Amino acid sequence: MNKIAFIGAGNMNRAIILGVINNGFDPENIIVSNPSPEKREAIAKSHGVKHTPDNIEAAEFADVIVLGVKPHFIAQVCEEIASKVDVSNKCIISVAAGTTMAQIQTALGGDKSVIRTMPNTPSQLGLGVTGAYASPQVSQQQKAFADDMMKANGIVKWLTSEDEIDHIIAVSGSGPAYFFLFMEAMAAEAERLGFNADEARALVQQTALGAAHMVVENDIPIAELRENVTSKGGTTQAALNTFTQGGLPELVSDAMQAAIARAKEMASNK
Ligand SMILES: NC(=O)c1ccc[n+]([C@@H]2O[C@H](COP(=O)([O-])OP(=O)(O)OC[C@H]3O[C@@H](n4cnc5c(N)ncnc54)[C@H](OP(=O)(O)O)[C@@H]3O)[C@@H](O)[C@H]2O)c1
Repeated sequence: MNKIAFIGAGNMNRAIILGVINNGFDPENIIVSNPSPEKREAIAKSHGVKHTPDNIEAAEFADVIVLGVKPHFIAQVCEEIASKVDVSNKCIISVAAGTTMAQIQTALGGDKSVIRTMPNTPSQLGLGVTGAYASPQVSQQQKAFADDMMKANGIVKWLTSEDEIDHIIAVSGSGPAYFFLFMEAMAAEAERLGFNADEARALVQQTALGAAHMVVENDIPIAELRENVTSKGGTTQAALNTFTQGGLPELVSDAMQAAIARAKEMASNK
């Protein structure tokens, strides 16, 4: 198991490719296929991977095939590959949101080794979270290889049921945008307070970074970190009371449930 084909040279596959190469994987053992030339040529030029417009050529080359196309192209690409290539001994990894294991296996023509994954955008910085669910056909060796590959982009959480993919979407898949929204709102208010846009952004991003590092570096409950910076009757408490009275915890819960509901709708092609 030492060759990887990336089907699609878009944002997510590019992030994974950069991660595995930065982690020491030989670019000679990577091939990228994409219909239009610009993106695959760019990554071939910058990182020395092979490239082709032909998904079949890419699939034949590799032991592991990473499907990085939009969800509505997944079935078509799987059918195309399975019509010409014997995928029985290959491991197919999908990064597509809302395309189920059953849909992928049906398009591949049966019970093949498939891993459904849900990476998030900080993967491009090596700070990602990837949820992964493997079909029973995936061997220990294939799982170990996929685990190594995904760890190049951050942490990996293996799931024991496919339903949990929707839960991962609600937590880490969509999660970066929750923080972006919060940071946007804070930066907007900072501007209303008189800071210019650059200052507001710098203040907010450094605050978010510092808070995230405090969570990472202190192995205590997050609630305790919050309590430690909240003096009774002080300014932080006044702000936090406003969040609580406005129903922030319930709103976060509702938002995450909405993400799960939408993931289920997408999987049933709505
Ligand atoms: N971006 C994220 O944050 C994120 C997070 C989690 C999961 N995902 C999943 O990752 C997948 C890709 O998303 P993305 O954001 O990377 O999309 P993207 O940037 O649009 O990349 C998709 C790529 O697939 C290529 N493509 C289209 N049809 C193809 C075909 N038949 N064969 C081979 N390549 C083909 C496109 O090429 P052309 O441009 O030349 O048409 C494009 O380069 C999606 O399924 C998405 O659900 C993305």
